[in-house]
Amino acid sequence: MRDASPQTVYLKDYTPPEYLIETVELNFDLDEQLTIVRSSLSLQRNPQSKHQNLALSLMGEELQLISLAIDGVSLDEDEYTLDKESLLIHKVPQDRAFQLKIENSISPAANTALEGLYLSSQMLCTQCEAQGFRKITWFLDRPDVMSRYKVTLSAAKDKYPVLLSNGNKIAGGDIDQNRHWVTWEDPFAKPSYLFALVAGQLEAVSDEFVTHSGRRIELQIFVESHNVDKCAHAMQSLKNAMRWDEETYGLEYDLDLYMIVAVDHFNMGAMENKGLNIFNTKFVLARPDTATDSDYEYIEGVIGHEYFHNWTGNRITCRDWFQLSLKEGFTVFRDQQFSADRSSKAVKRIADVNALRTRQFAEDAGPLAHPVRPEAYIEINNFYTLTVYEKGAEVVRMLHTLLGPEGFRKGCDLYFARHDGQAVTCEDFVNALETANQADFSQFWLWYSQAGTPVLDVTEHYDAANQQLHLTIKQSCPATPGQAQKAPFHIPVKLGLLSDDGSAAPIWFNQQSSNEITLHVTAAEQTFSFANLAQAPVVSLLRGFSAPVILKMERSLEDLAFLLRHDSDTFNRWEAGQQLAIKVIFELIKNLQNQQALQLTPLLVDAWRNILQDKFSDLSYQAMLLSLPEESYLAGLMEVIDVDAIHEAREFVRISLAKQLQTEFQRLYTLYHRDESGNFQADAIGRRRLKNICLNYLISLETPENYELAERQFYSAGNMTDQMAALATIANSRHPAKARSLDSFYHQWRREALVIDKWFALQATSSMPNTFATVQSLMRHHAFDIKTPNRVRALIGAFSQSNPVNFHAKNGEGYAFLADQVLVLNDLNPQIASRMVTGLAQWRRYDEERQILMKQQLQRIVSYAHLSKDVYEIASKSLA
Ligand code: ARG
Ligand code: ZN
Repeated sequence: MRDASPQTVYLKDYTPPEYLIETVELNFDLDEQLTIVRSSLSLQRNPQSKHQNLALSLMGEELQLISLAIDGVSLDEDEYTLDKESLLIHKVPQDRAFQLKIENSISPAANTALEGLYLSSQMLCTQCEAQGFRKITWFLDRPDVMSRYKVTLSAAKDKYPVLLSNGNKIAGGDIDQNRHWVTWEDPFAKPSYLFALVAGQLEAVSDEFVTHSGRRIELQIFVESHNVDKCAHAMQSLKNAMRWDEETYGLEYDLDLYMIVAVDHFNMGAMENKGLNIFNTKFVLARPDTATDSDYEYIEGVIGHEYFHNWTGNRITCRDWFQLSLKEGFTVFRDQQFSADRSSKAVKRIADVNALRTRQFAEDAGPLAHPVRPEAYIEINNFYTLTVYEKGAEVVRMLHTLLGPEGFRKGCDLYFARHDGQAVTCEDFVNALETANQADFSQFWLWYSQAGTPVLDVTEHYDAANQQLHLTIKQSCPATPGQAQKAPFHIPVKLGLLSDDGSAAPIWFNQQSSNEITLHVTAAEQTFSFANLAQAPVVSLLRGFSAPVILKMERSLEDLAFLLRHDSDTFNRWEAGQQLAIKVIFELIKNLQNQQALQLTPLLVDAWRNILQDKFSDLSYQAMLLSLPEESYLAGLMEVIDVDAIHEAREFVRISLAKQLQTEFQRLYTLYHRDESGNFQADAIGRRRLKNICLNYLISLETPENYELAERQFYSAGNMTDQMAALATIANSRHPAKARSLDSFYHQWRREALVIDKWFALQATSSMPNTFATVQSLMRHHAFDIKTPNRVRALIGAFSQSNPVNFHAKNGEGYAFLADQVLVLNDLNPQIASRMVTGLAQWRRYDEERQILMKQQLQRIVSYAHLSKDVYEIASKSLA
């Protein structure tokens, strides 16, 4: 067992800080082995605090103290107490402001947790959210303490020619021949988690943006020199995001300089530090030959996300970490809106819902379920979850739906006006929306406090005599850890009705008619009635996925096929096709489990043929309609997950469709197969998507001609989308040239770390039988490095989270392998280690034999002697 049982932090225990820090002066003598930090804090009692404590307690971890002084008088050893996580100064002035000076040292090169100040490749950088600042110096490291920072950095000129921190550069110069210094000042008060510094040999790619009010902003992206040619897309994305936020929310950038730095070693995607964003290279670097269309889209989304945080996160921040979704849910919603406006709205919505349903729904249904606004945590880094981010964004989206775009904007305006410069709560946000619109969201609030995915059971009854349709909607929500009973949610359900020719049937509801309405589902059971319907319409429910719920409604294959042809709602049209495929696949799974022969219903073939033959202006959308539901989504719908049957049934459908529609797939492949490298217009992306999904079907036929098609595309592609798509189909088949293609790819791209990540992930996710052996040998590959999070995610993460058939091998080798790696990572980088444990968290969903094997590995993990809080929390809650 671990040394001491780690403590749980509760929302109900929140109290305002006892002291405030008005200004912070930081002085860094930077060196990768030993950095000296001198901190000068102007402190005073917080008038809001009710405590009568003479002492001052500061947070600090892994720091070496050099000296302490208050108002110029140094402290003796009996005037303070130091322990592993804090510094307690027994007595500080109560009735006036005072200056506390701290001098300490830290060792960036020894910091493998990548939290605080650390070394990434040759450069020094920081990650302070959520509680990393305390690994730099002792501080009131909590988001409701906001201070103005002045930061001086000094370092060796040759190793660290570029020295960056938040705000504006105000001074600098040489110390001697070898060392130099720079001073930065940030005029905006900020919490410590938004502090950042960077030092290294970096090149800047520069541009500028003129704001709506005419201010000229300098934009800089800093990268290592070999990446200078991969910054154009990130820069354009930044300018697009800045313009979009002005146009959509009326929000302008506030400093004169906006900097982005790309680093190779990063625990998450990116970080919104004030004026100095630090990014995982994965979300900055792109060149047509090295990045796929999806990479381009992710980069735009994440650049937007971090930029939007400047208002939703930085200008208005969180009072405490339980409020994380205040900034993350809202900012994800904003980046989703931005990406939807920039590309295809339909495709973006489908992609977001797909991710939510496969991953967040699983989290909400498992042992780690928690509300969007959690009430307790052991390690806050474990709460940067799909629930806080993605479900949090859905909650904001529902508020947007309920208020309409104008009402939502009015509410946001009030939120920004009321709370600028403050650290606030989720209630403050909802309250501003309510006040501005005279709305009542008291029941809606349950979306923040109750965990679990609500289920809607819908039955329809058509009353021909009275020409009425009655829809009865029952809602329920399963129990989640700590929440046995749930009260009914306020659920916006968008609805349309279709006549039998496929056109919209007018919806008569409360004596008014329209083509689409939003029902307010608020009770455990409700019936909605619609009049003037001469014929029974086909119901299109939950349009646009208007609420993050599971919709259960008995539908015939014919009705689904009808909606797939005619629904004017692009989301529900796609959804009808998915439901159709799901029904078919589950029939096949049943057949497999009963050892019956498989046969594909012609209805699905006809439906897919229609999609292939229809004319679409948005080819990305057409490609999505042709995609079969992912194995992990199917798994989520199964009582006891049968990974093999899911895989086999889905493969059977893919192959059968390919056989029966081969000419159609070939026709579209040939139509769009020409190389359009460098063209990132939405229509060119659409052509690539459609062509590549056709290739994916065709290669399943395992014929020499189709194998050759894939190989030809692989060798001739001038863009990564086409090259990757071809290699992925090859790696997932019995293609005779598989080894040769993978080798060739490695040699072509061995100098591009992000492309080599793809090479690892591709092999780790192959469903072919020898994959586990490949994964083991890749662990020994000289390009594998367990200290690089992107590589760990590409190999260990991809294998354990995106390769159901091989990870869940019946002999348990996948589980033991994962636990081995978690324990190695635990000692190096607890955040990454705890992310990897999630591969075992869903153990209760599998058959008994697998349950035992998975549980054994979780038990092995919790009994490890030096377990981090991070891993302890996830593993122990998974077992509970
Ligand atoms: N605020 C960042 C973002 O969402 C995420 C940083 C989280 N980092 C962490 N170690 N928990 O953009
Ligand atoms: Zn964020």
